[in-house]
Amino acid sequence: MNRNGPTPSSPSTYLVTPKFAPQTNMIAIAAASAAREWRSCRPRASESGVMRRRRVHYPVLAARPSIRSLAPSRIRELFNEGLGRDDLLQFWVGEPDEPTPDFIRRAGMDSLAAGETFYTHNLGIPELRDALSKYLSRLHRPVAPEEIAVTSSGVNALMLASQLLVDPGERVVEVVPLWPNLQEIPKILGAQVETVALEFAPGGWRLDLDRLLDALAPGTRAVYLNSPNNPTGWTITRDEQRALLAHCRRHGIWIFADDAYERLYFDAGGVAPSFLDICEAQDRVISTNTFSKSWLMTGWRLGYLVCPPHLAAIAATLQEPITSCASSLIQKGGEVALGGPQECVDRFRTLYRERRDVVVEVLGPTGLLPVVPAGAFYALVDIGRSGQDSMSFAKSLLLAEGVAVVPGVTFGPSSDRFVRIAYTAADRDLRTGLERLRRYLLG
Ligand SMILES: Cc1ncc(COP(=O)(O)O)c(C=O)c1O
Repeated sequence: MNRNGPTPSSPSTYLVTPKFAPQTNMIAIAAASAAREWRSCRPRASESGVMRRRRVHYPVLAARPSIRSLAPSRIRELFNEGLGRDDLLQFWVGEPDEPTPDFIRRAGMDSLAAGETFYTHNLGIPELRDALSKYLSRLHRPVAPEEIAVTSSGVNALMLASQLLVDPGERVVEVVPLWPNLQEIPKILGAQVETVALEFAPGGWRLDLDRLLDALAPGTRAVYLNSPNNPTGWTITRDEQRALLAHCRRHGIWIFADDAYERLYFDAGGVAPSFLDICEAQDRVISTNTFSKSWLMTGWRLGYLVCPPHLAAIAATLQEPITSCASSLIQKGGEVALGGPQECVDRFRTLYRERRDVVVEVLGPTGLLPVVPAGAFYALVDIGRSGQDSMSFAKSLLLAEGVAVVPGVTFGPSSDRFVRIAYTAADRDLRTGLERLRRYLLG
């Protein structure tokens, strides 16, 4: 999340860079510009020749209602508390702590040097779509290039796919806890959002499948889920996928699967179960993905989605007025990432698994880590004994111990009893941070 310069060799100050305008400043700037706008569009006496009695009211900061009701980022709220401090141990951002592998970086530089600086096809360069088709066919079922749309980041894939599917007023169901961006997207589109919470039990997070199927009544447009899940690490089982697919087929409901962490899965095989393994090309299934996590490419902003071919063709038309296409040289990086040595993905998975084991070693015996995550690089720490809600706890931990975590409420009220740590930090920082957290909670 370094917004201001070249990738630093040490990422420890990414989120405390003083150049980043804090939210309060941004609000002040927006308010000042709205005031200017108000002054400039007020009817002027000199124009009409007479002073008007009645003032026309021009609303200030008038975004449409579904945007006005968006929840401000809780992570940002917390981040503002830590602004200016350079001594924080940071576990809040889901971002690897080392730069993109060299062979991928070189591909981006070579592309730029070769002058590949032009618009591409809306759905991406054919070479990248071919490479994705081969890669996904190896990982899942045969996937044709016509089923693939390359996007400008994973989050752009989420927005594009949602715009393809969801009209205002339509009903969507989300399995929560869920990454906040994914919660907000259907709301931005004016959807009517209902949630089904994973159940927290000592054995782990569990999906109550019957409850989910009940919620997926006929007329529901889509079900949104993310597995392996940010923040819980919960991963849907193959049996649950089959039952969900059968139900959605029966009722014409779209399955919207965010597979961002499918390669960061710690159980056998190293690839999480995906709907792409069991669905047909013509099923109502959209799988979204990103290069950010598996190839350490967060700053590149490259993602993709897989969907039925006729929908991909429409995605091209839709992408034109949005970003038109992903950046040409970035796409070259993606092509090389898929075609180059794949050991790097295995190495990252092993690294994060080892770090997860550090979390288990430090927090496991205390009972503060009730669930060992099966995938992604997050762990939820139980703060129940603090008596505080997750936001108050995260703020006080930040101020007292300089440890930056994300309040569980960010992912929905059902996870307010937890804070999330991203175990992407180097071993020593990770241990120190976990020990401070343990001491703070247990005394
Ligand atoms: C669950 C989930 N989906 C999608 C993304 C999107 O990743 P990006 O926009 O970096 O490609 C993220 C990033 O943190 C995520 O956590």
